[in-house]
Amino acid sequence: VLRTRLCDLLGIEHPIIQAAMGTASSAELAAAVSNAGGLGSIGTLFRPLADLRRQLERMPELTDRAYAVNHVVPVLDAAAFELTLAAKPALVSFALGDPGEHVKRAHEVGALVMHQVTNVRQAEEAARLGVDILVAQGGESGGYGGSVAAMPLIPQVVDAVHPVHVVAAGGIFDGRGIAAALMLGADGVNLGTRFLASPESSIDAGWRDAILAAASEDAVKVDVLNDLMPLPGTGGYGTVVRSVRTPFIDAWNARRAEARERAAQLMGEMGAARQSGRSHEFLAVAGQTAGAIREVRPAAEIVRALVEETEQALAGARRFLTS
Ligand SMILES: Cc1cc2nc3c(=O)[nH]c(=O)nc-3n(C[C@H](O)[C@H](O)[C@H](O)COP(=O)(O)O)c2cc1C
Repeated sequence: VLRTRLCDLLGIEHPIIQAAMGTASSAELAAAVSNAGGLGSIGTLFRPLADLRRQLERMPELTDRAYAVNHVVPVLDAAAFELTLAAKPALVSFALGDPGEHVKRAHEVGALVMHQVTNVRQAEEAARLGVDILVAQGGESGGYGGSVAAMPLIPQVVDAVHPVHVVAAGGIFDGRGIAAALMLGADGVNLGTRFLASPESSIDAGWRDAILAAASEDAVKVDVLNDLMPLPGTGGYGTVVRSVRTPFIDAWNARRAEARERAAQLMGEMGAARQSGRSHEFLAVAGQTAGAIREVRPAAEIVRALVEETEQALAGARRFLTS
């Protein structure tokens, strides 16, 4: 049976975390994953305060299991963070910048702290702050991320912060990827894009369809978004978002100076598209795993399949050893 020390630390059955993904990760998705034995996360990025309050109130109605609430450091909202602390989740997670004093605040309410990093230096700094779990996030990830790929990053972070728990993120969509991450020294995984293709994730149908139709090379870094909307990307760790390419991205990634001049107009167009459920015509945030995701599956089924596939992959690894 698949089990790692991350399961003991968090009190979960499977070492699989559903990544926080801003407003795409609501109580319904987080609870479905936690109830299936993984760990669900609620995102606070771009979420209005009243909605966060509602999501946090729903959690105990939907599950009695552990879950995480995520804050993105460069745009951390103090009032939202107070709501999170009052909810006392099992885990508070941070990303995209040095979490500093926030680590202590989360520990004070009895939560464990997880922090996502994109290179070894950030991992060492975060370990010094006393975070309990580090997420080594490869640049192939969906959402904001760095440039180092998961394969070289994970073992380096594992070695740099030992014995702190390390969770792998980026590029993982099935049990083979989870088995590989464990071989690289990770204690578990944090999957985003795979869970976007579930009915429980709160994204528009067009966004989900874009993921199902994409090849991996269609999931591109959107540098121009940092010109149009500098935070959270240019704050903290200096990250760039990855999205399935759209005509908007193709047009403006190549004309960044002009995009900067027309930022107000372009942001207005994006805002209007969001209001009418057409935001995917501009951005369909997802990682390179989009190429491997061909169907929408309930989150609990995704967790079950991931566990089964990982066990198979690990059991099968014996064939590479001769006696
Ligand atoms: C749509 C989307 C939104 C994201 N938003 C956040 C976020 O709000 N906070 C965060 O820490 N990470 C966020 N991420 C990154 C994930 O935590 C995770 O690192 C990433 O999804 C892992 O790579 P994968 O998509 O290849 O599984 C987001 C990812 C996606 C796809």
